[in-house]
Amino acid sequence: MIGSSGQIGSELVPALREKYGNGNVIEADIKTPENLREKDLFISLDALNREALDKIVHECEVDTIYHMASILSATGEKMPQTAWNLNMNSLVNVLEVGRKHDVERIIWPSSIAAFGPSTPRENTPNDTILRPTTMYGVTKVAGELLVEYYFKKYGLDIRSMRLPGIVSSETLPGGGTTDYAVEIFYEAIKHKKYTCFVKETTMLPMMYMPDCIKSHIDLVEADGSRLRHRVFNVAGMSFTAGELAAEIRKHIPEFKIEYKPDFRQQIADSWPESIDDSWAREEWGWSPSYDLAGMTKDMIQKLSKKLK
Ligand code: SER
Repeated sequence: MIGSSGQIGSELVPALREKYGNGNVIEADIKTPENLREKDLFISLDALNREALDKIVHECEVDTIYHMASILSATGEKMPQTAWNLNMNSLVNVLEVGRKHDVERIIWPSSIAAFGPSTPRENTPNDTILRPTTMYGVTKVAGELLVEYYFKKYGLDIRSMRLPGIVSSETLPGGGTTDYAVEIFYEAIKHKKYTCFVKETTMLPMMYMPDCIKSHIDLVEADGSRLRHRVFNVAGMSFTAGELAAEIRKHIPEFKIEYKPDFRQQIADSWPESIDDSWAREEWGWSPSYDLAGMTKDMIQKLSKKLK
């Protein structure tokens, strides 16, 4: 897995190890993971170094690549050229190395950031207008086209899902617009207050980490003959920042929230409020388990222990 130390990687790796065996999953990241154990396979890798990636895939006889390394939307607006370079060239490296070594399968997440202000915002269909206004979104649309191109031209079995904001308790997200939905829990537990960088009424699609892990495993294991598409919308839940705060208040009644929108408001406003994921449901049986209440309860339980 490339980008294994990030928000998703740090929880997807243990899930894959549990399922496929510890020795069958290699972590690769520019950053060494915090809780590395003696028996874990970790290789330091810059996703832009194609030669190094080639060597790992060849020598370790890798059959499946999860490519998770990416600069997210908010950081991407601070350094658009760097975001383009990392997000696109790392993907091209994975596709080229995958093609050369006949890798069986590649998972590369896209994002709701592939949508833009002219996309229908409610129940956004899979096949719709893709005119994003962030560099992150631009790299996701270009990446989706590459995924489809490599599948059609070379038969490379690469699969992608457009992830919404991911809420999780293990590793903080880095530099995304949906980060408030994670930060709010840490601040609610530690300080009983939070200053939110989007408005109270801002609604975005979100997903809890266990469902995110499930989407990766379900998609990688899906029967290829049933897949008519390569890129899938996946929905979990949708809520406004105000609704999230109200749900947290059910557990922490003294929790207070203030809203001070910054540059990320505009990004949030350009994304859908809710997602139609019927292609994923039909073609690989996608079905998320968590709603806002279930997620909030679990997050507060997990983080209360962690932050003690
Ligand atoms: N969580 C991401 C972001 O906010 C969306 O894919 O950038």
